[in-house]
Amino acid sequence: MSLNIVEATHKKAKPESEKIPFGRTFTDHMLVMDYEENKGWHEPRIVPYEPLTLDPAAMIFHYGQTVFEGLKAYRTDDGRVLLFRPEKNFERLNLSSDRLSIPPVDEREVLGYLKELVQLEKNWVPSYEGTSLYIRPFIIATEPSLAVAPSKSYKLMIILSPVGPYFSGGVKPVTINVEDKFTRAVKGGTGMAKTAGNYSSGYQAQAKAVEEGNNDVLWLDGVEKRYIEEVGSMNIFFKINGEIVTPALSGSILQGITRTSILELLRKWEIPVSERRISIDELYQAYEDGKLEEAFGTGTAAVISPVGEFNWLGKKMVINDHEIGALSQELYDTITGIQRGRKEDSYGWTVEV
Ligand SMILES: Cc1ncc(COP(=O)(O)O)c(C=O)c1O
Repeated sequence: MSLNIVEATHKKAKPESEKIPFGRTFTDHMLVMDYEENKGWHEPRIVPYEPLTLDPAAMIFHYGQTVFEGLKAYRTDDGRVLLFRPEKNFERLNLSSDRLSIPPVDEREVLGYLKELVQLEKNWVPSYEGTSLYIRPFIIATEPSLAVAPSKSYKLMIILSPVGPYFSGGVKPVTINVEDKFTRAVKGGTGMAKTAGNYSSGYQAQAKAVEEGNNDVLWLDGVEKRYIEEVGSMNIFFKINGEIVTPALSGSILQGITRTSILELLRKWEIPVSERRISIDELYQAYEDGKLEEAFGTGTAAVISPVGEFNWLGKKMVINDHEIGALSQELYDTITGIQRGRKEDSYGWTVEV
């Protein structure tokens, strides 16, 4: 399909420092593409960023038929722009869409359009340390109908937002509350999909955790409230007695692209690693035995977010004296080094725009 480009006549001012609040500034253009039952996905176009007009009965507003993705474009020291494993995001977009009964897109084709969009907005990719251009592809159901059934029409859009460093002044370990009342997802539900309801249903637990002095929530499984799943918008890893453990993909957690990359690095480095069920009791026991050496969350936003403390039913687990661990630091430096073009990408993870 040919991509139509309509250039914005009015260009917005770009942020002039690295202090850019997350997800509040958007670039001059966006990608839009429509789906209709008898036409499939059609009319890909890059147009000036502008509000949408939707019928109040559009199905997205009523039953939440929507999916999204999150990835970043990074500026290298020599001025190039790199994407990190973007094909994995479109693969996961289709996985999420499948779960939400949304028709799949042609992954390669949409990645091609994204590259065109980022190319057009190249000057929006900031270069300050730790900054990047956040990319948000998403699909919404647009059919005006209150029927409880999959929509017959959809809109795919990609918007871009320059973002500041996740950690200002160096990586800082976070404090996490182990949630014992609310549940994020259950096997057979939508936990493995990146869809809106998974996030808004976590707000209450998140607010409670923050009120009690934590930064985020660690979710346990929805049935027994025993097995560790993931953190707010990150997967979780532990270093226990020299071995790296992360919860296996059970159907209720997101298959993070950072998670996959960390696992690949650890295996390459021949560090013992296992993807398995791990209960909160086992974690606490490891802590009491002095074997819980490091813990870190992984995700596009922070890359590696070391955990300095877990709070669980009034008990505290302080990890590595609230300092980032050596392995967490090495993983952080390796991934950010590849993303910024400072370390050799021997894995073929980066895609130049
Ligand atoms: C629920 C959840 N888990 C994990 C992740 C980490 O995934 P990724 O490494 O692909 O950013 C994210 C972020 O996208 C998320 O929203």
